[in-house]
Amino acid sequence: MSDARVLRSDDPEAERLLAAGWTVVAESWGARLRDPDPDRLRALVQRAEDAGYDVRPLAAGELPAVADLEALTAPDYPLTPATDVPERTLVRLRAMDARFVGAWRGRDLAAVTAVEPGGELVETAWTSVHPDHRRRGLAAAVKAASVLLLLPTGARVFGTGGAAVNAGSLAMNAAVGYVVEERWLSLRPPPSSVTR
Ligand SMILES: CC(C)(COP(=O)(O)OP(=O)(O)OC[C@H]1O[C@@H](n2cnc3c(N)ncnc32)[C@H](O)[C@@H]1OP(=O)(O)O)[C@@H](O)C(=O)NCCC(=O)NCCS
Repeated sequence: MSDARVLRSDDPEAERLLAAGWTVVAESWGARLRDPDPDRLRALVQRAEDAGYDVRPLAAGELPAVADLEALTAPDYPLTPATDVPERTLVRLRAMDARFVGAWRGRDLAAVTAVEPGGELVETAWTSVHPDHRRRGLAAAVKAASVLLLLPTGARVFGTGGAAVNAGSLAMNAAVGYVVEERWLSLRPPPSSVTR
């Protein structure tokens, strides 16, 4: 996959490469949440709390639980040239300039999202949910809580993205209010001609 190129679907270069025999090996998307409605976000958090989860920002001392959750969920992320997932060791987590928001069930971390503040624009680094706790609104809840956390800092635009095959990721972001604004193509060149 190292020779793959990732281009926006409306980039004329993508059209040129396709005409030259390159093929689309994966698709991905970028979505934005602009000027979010705090009431809608609070309702998503409340739903998780009503179901018995404690949704809150994580302290630095809780990052080992994040590393454990990421080690467990790593095989569930779809891998494409545009959505590579590095190993999330404790050392790497500590080195990130990120805020982490989690959903706890007792002493178990059931869900986490990591967001990287950047003034007005905040990007989600990733979101993951323990397999035993999926389809209960937890991804939407931690994402909503992360937006509520950063709104008071002046953040207004929240970005996220993922692989087109990741139906769960698209659905959780739509639930929070994210709108897909761009699509990306991962393109691979034609096999080079064999010379004898
Ligand atoms: C993607 C993921 C985070 C979703 O977590 P989740 O807690 O199950 O999602 P939620 O319960 O908050 O779902 C929110 C919405 O998405 C829908 N949804 C969740 N998973 C879905 C799936 N696999 N297919 C279709 N829809 C899905 C839910 O039905 C819900 O829709 P609704 O609001 O209409 O009811 C989880 O499957 C996961 O951890 N996957 C592995 C890591 C990953 O791919 N992360 C995303 C990329 S960073």
